[in-house]
Amino acid sequence: MTVRRSVIVGSGGYLPERVVTNDELARRVDTSDEWIVERTGIRSRHIAAEGEFTSHLATAAARRALQNAGMATVDMIVVATATPDETFPATATRVQKALGIDGGAAFDVQAVCTGFIYGLSVADNAIRCGEADTALVIGAETFSRILDWDDRATCVLFGDGAGAVVLRAAEGVGTTADTGILAHKLHADGRQHDLLYADGGPSTTGTAGVVRMEGRKVFRHAVENLAGVVTETLAAAGLALADVDWLVPHQANIRILDGTAKKLGFPPDRVVITVDHHANTSAASVPLALAEAVADGRIRPGDVVLMEAMGGGFTWGACLARM
Ligand code: UT7
Repeated sequence: MTVRRSVIVGSGGYLPERVVTNDELARRVDTSDEWIVERTGIRSRHIAAEGEFTSHLATAAARRALQNAGMATVDMIVVATATPDETFPATATRVQKALGIDGGAAFDVQAVCTGFIYGLSVADNAIRCGEADTALVIGAETFSRILDWDDRATCVLFGDGAGAVVLRAAEGVGTTADTGILAHKLHADGRQHDLLYADGGPSTTGTAGVVRMEGRKVFRHAVENLAGVVTETLAAAGLALADVDWLVPHQANIRILDGTAKKLGFPPDRVVITVDHHANTSAASVPLALAEAVADGRIRPGDVVLMEAMGGGFTWGACLARM
């Protein structure tokens, strides 16, 4: 039987130039490098410059992904972000203009830290049903703009950045049918809103608000939800954990990464970790980690990669692909 799949043919990431260390933050709020490293695994994060917006980060990552794919255009651009340049139009339309792409569709997806997984799922479905032949899926955030810089419980956790992948339709049988995005699963539980949200919005306060999080309670849900959706996604593709070469998780906290790998029984040395130097970049964290591991040669063509994330909403999901 002939199948139509979305193949990941390029990836790229972009991080703002400015690196902020834990010691620098400790001069601003009552915290320490020791506390941050021990509780989160974070050592530094990148912070966008004044005048550097989410669309700029997204465009830079998209350019690298397109170059990596050897392509100049796509017919769908999906930007996953919780920190858009403006309330409207979609940041994706700014990226479209900056890339000089005419035509096709461009829109944003909002699922906070799970945004990239949601975006991949939407773009994959569009390609599978013939709505698009190629797509850029970008996760891009400037969370530094929605942090309460006096709240030590949240301001030390996040960073800015963007990551992107290019998808291209492939039709075929046998090997071709086994390459590309194999399965994805998405979840949301709106009852958990109060544990992680931004306390503003265009329809409520008229401002963007800042991140509010009950970290310990979010933590308790994370490992359970992530291990669950990983198992579910593998089952949907008819694969076992032993078939997975690399786990590319959302980078919120090293203890969540370790805990999820342990619960699943997955070898820790096959988990891509960037939280130490990126911190939590929300929707950008999975594509940034993927791009880093592809660029340094860890992830190779043919490898089976399992991406997963969880964030505000709650939302969570996973996506399985053969590169
Ligand atoms: O990406 C979206 C999903 N988000 C997540 O997955 C985040 C999940 N949560 C976490 O990663 C962790 O819960 C945190 C890193 C946010 C917090 O770690 P924790 O081990 O759960 O610490 P805690 O919130 O239970 O706080 C322990 C103590 C508290 O002091 P007391 O009450 O024990 O005296 C906090 O006030 O640590 C204190 N604390 C800090 N101390 C120094 C909180 N933040 C800081 C800080 N520096 N930055």
